Amino acid sequence: MPIRLAIRPLKASFLSAPRSLIQGSTTRGYIAHRTIHPILARPCLANLTGQFATASKMSVNQHNEEFKLDKLFDVQDKVALITGAGSGIGLMATQALATNGAKVYIVGRTEEKLEKVAETYGKDIPGSIIPIGADVSQKSEIKNLVDTISSKEKCLCILINNAGIALNTQQTEASSAEEMSANLFSDPDETFEMWTDTYRTNVPQIFFMTTAFLPLLQAAHAHNDNFSGTVINISSISGIVKTPQHHFAYNASKAAAIHLTTMLADEIASNGLRVRVNSIAPGVFPSEMTTGGESDERQKSHIPREKYQDKVPAGRPGADRDMANAILFAATNQYLNGQTVAVDGGYILSAGAGA
Ligand SMILES: NC(=O)c1ccc[n+]([C@@H]2O[C@H](COP(=O)([O-])OP(=O)(O)OC[C@H]3O[C@@H](n4cnc5c(N)ncnc54)[C@H](OP(=O)(O)O)[C@@H]3O)[C@@H](O)[C@H]2O)c1
Repeated sequence: MPIRLAIRPLKASFLSAPRSLIQGSTTRGYIAHRTIHPILARPCLANLTGQFATASKMSVNQHNEEFKLDKLFDVQDKVALITGAGSGIGLMATQALATNGAKVYIVGRTEEKLEKVAETYGKDIPGSIIPIGADVSQKSEIKNLVDTISSKEKCLCILINNAGIALNTQQTEASSAEEMSANLFSDPDETFEMWTDTYRTNVPQIFFMTTAFLPLLQAAHAHNDNFSGTVINISSISGIVKTPQHHFAYNASKAAAIHLTTMLADEIASNGLRVRVNSIAPGVFPSEMTTGGESDERQKSHIPREKYQDKVPAGRPGADRDMANAILFAATNQYLNGQTVAVDGGYILSAGAGA
């Protein structure tokens, strides 16, 4: 049963991340000189004290300032909302953003999962994790979400439409037309309702969440210089590969999610709004969806490495770091728009893309 919308702020700390220590301009000048002209710089070395030499090693060339990781992937103080963040990929995205200073509202239908996530991962980090119970396949609940966030925040910087479901699986292999028809058509669990339920959560939910939050996403640009509000849809390689992977309905919905990403990005840009829309298409990552609904006491799921040893070029399932890295890239790269980025260990290479 859906849990009613209710904000539960947690006691997460807002400490700043440690900054680099040495900023002396003389020191920076020395490093630049030595790097570009090692021979010219050599006489200076004799005059250096040990202390100066140590400081030099730790200094940063001011011309490279923009290239530091905390500038390239800066999500400090950004406001984010992630759906389906109580487990799997949504949880990985939550950790990636909150650990690096973002204020992350996490949304799902099961209150206990969200609270466990906030309790386990929201303490002693630079950002914060705030649970909100909601069913994002209901328009009225999306409207409540917008009202709730609007009452607390001036803008929404990052919206991650991650909630998704996979329902029935089928045997697709058959040695005759009769057997194939029986497997796919006569399967009592393969119904029109199952197809529309899958579609409802995986496709229109993205449309309604994105369009409902547009004003708050657009406001992100006004409140964060050089940052456009951004939507990241979690689609799937299932919407790209030619095989149905034993679930036609799910794969068809993910292909639709990818095209919806393109259309939303196009219309939003055409209307002159500063909101980027992209999608990440994961390969196989451990989650409740991929492990039969299981997660441990930290809300994490596990897939044995050897299970994918011969199935993908990477020789393993995706790891938390692989997804976290992709989320930070899509959230912060201001020049990425209308794209689907596959993070799949080479799955598409092996399985082959469709159209
Ligand atoms: N894991 C993979 O290998 C993989 C690969 C490609 C794509 N994906 C996609 O990644 C996304 C995340 O899935 P996952 O693999 O991490 O599975 P997961 O662990 O089952 O996570 C899905 C989350 O979505 C939430 N959710 C489902 N329906 C919802 C609704 N109507 N409203 C709010 N929350 C809802 C679920 O929580 P509640 O049930 O508590 O609401 C759950 O926490 C999905 O879109 C999935 O299709 C996953």
